[in-house]
Amino acid sequence: MDITEAVKQIAEADIEKLILSNPKSKDVPYQKMTVRPLLIQKQKMYQLERFTERQAFQENIEPAALAQVLVQSLQEEYSQLDGWSHKANYWIKISKKGKVFYKEKKKKEADAPQELAQQNRKKQYLLDAAEAPRPLVDLGVVTKEGKVVASKYDKYKQINRFIEMIDEGIGPEIKQINIIDFGCGKSYLTFVLYHYLTQVRQIKAQMVGLDLKADVIETCNQIAERYGYDGLHFEVGNIEGYTPHFSVDMVISLHACDTATDFALYNAVQWKTARIYSVPCCQHELCHQMKRQSAGSLTEYGLLKERFAALLTDALRADLLRAQGYQVDLLEFVDMEHSPKNLLIRAVKKKESAGKNNHAKERAEAAMAAYQVMPTLYRLLYEEDEK
Ligand SMILES: C[S@@+](CC[C@H](N)C(=O)[O-])C[C@H]1O[C@@H](n2cnc3c(N)ncnc32)[C@H](O)[C@@H]1O
Repeated sequence: MDITEAVKQIAEADIEKLILSNPKSKDVPYQKMTVRPLLIQKQKMYQLERFTERQAFQENIEPAALAQVLVQSLQEEYSQLDGWSHKANYWIKISKKGKVFYKEKKKKEADAPQELAQQNRKKQYLLDAAEAPRPLVDLGVVTKEGKVVASKYDKYKQINRFIEMIDEGIGPEIKQINIIDFGCGKSYLTFVLYHYLTQVRQIKAQMVGLDLKADVIETCNQIAERYGYDGLHFEVGNIEGYTPHFSVDMVISLHACDTATDFALYNAVQWKTARIYSVPCCQHELCHQMKRQSAGSLTEYGLLKERFAALLTDALRADLLRAQGYQVDLLEFVDMEHSPKNLLIRAVKKKESAGKNNHAKERAEAAMAAYQVMPTLYRLLYEEDEK
């Protein structure tokens, strides 16, 4: 059997992982290379990861290119390949004289369907814990062995879902992106998103995380420097009145408290930001403004009033963003069991020619009049402008 034939058996299988090792000479720049499947925008790709002693370099390739890459790597660089698919384990060894040895060990029939069933049940996350992405390990969400820490499962799920939603909106033509994360806090999401964009999607990203807490920001900057994340910086500051250093393609905010979300949305609108992803939290503003009788039984009981006011806040935010020329969706972020703060506002800027949506503005104003409320976002967009 020659290398091409041996590789063909593997490249056509539904592989889970390949490791190419044993460099043929000292001139081979990388000690080993791994190959894993991944989904980018729902398209299957393979990620090649090449390792030196200290660093790893990633490259994504189309499935059609896999066989050629493997053949070339085994001809020129590595003398061993170990591989795993759902159905079999594979092994290629090339002797010093160039003889090719190939072995394939099928998994037991009894095991295979069970494993496949498990595989099907397992939710496919964009960031696979098994790969132990460094930010997730250092932030204590995933262990070094690639297991999700039980108490951090909700965080793992939230981060993955947020990134999944962002990923859907970044087409393959996008090679560079500038993002601000408002109210980044400890920055789980910020680090992991930067990792995903730059390492997995291979996009050049500039990101700023902004928060009021100086100590937290200092730690985040130290971590970013330690990782060599050149495009990621953290700043101490208030969302209100923040001025960016670059043109902003995307604004994100995860659980920015109460009206901090409104300032984040307002900034994004002012900067004509193309995409906004915001998961609000602790929306007390309208609840304080609403009178007990303003919506009948919906505002009679404290608990209902709080929930109704929170829903009204997001409904108004959606209409006010639409009024500013955005297409808006309110999406379930994660299941209720993983976080009750589970509504995500996704706003995508329409073409300038689409103009402003007066109907959405009028609808928001009618609701504001009916419930006698004045949300911060409206005040910022309309009243401040008139001053
Ligand atoms: C609930 S935490 C969320 C942190 C992070 N996004 C996450 O999901 O893990 C909210 C963060 O928003 C920050 N924050 C609240 N108001 C802010 C403002 N006006 N400007 C900047 N940061 C603010 C807080 O300091 C806090 O760290």
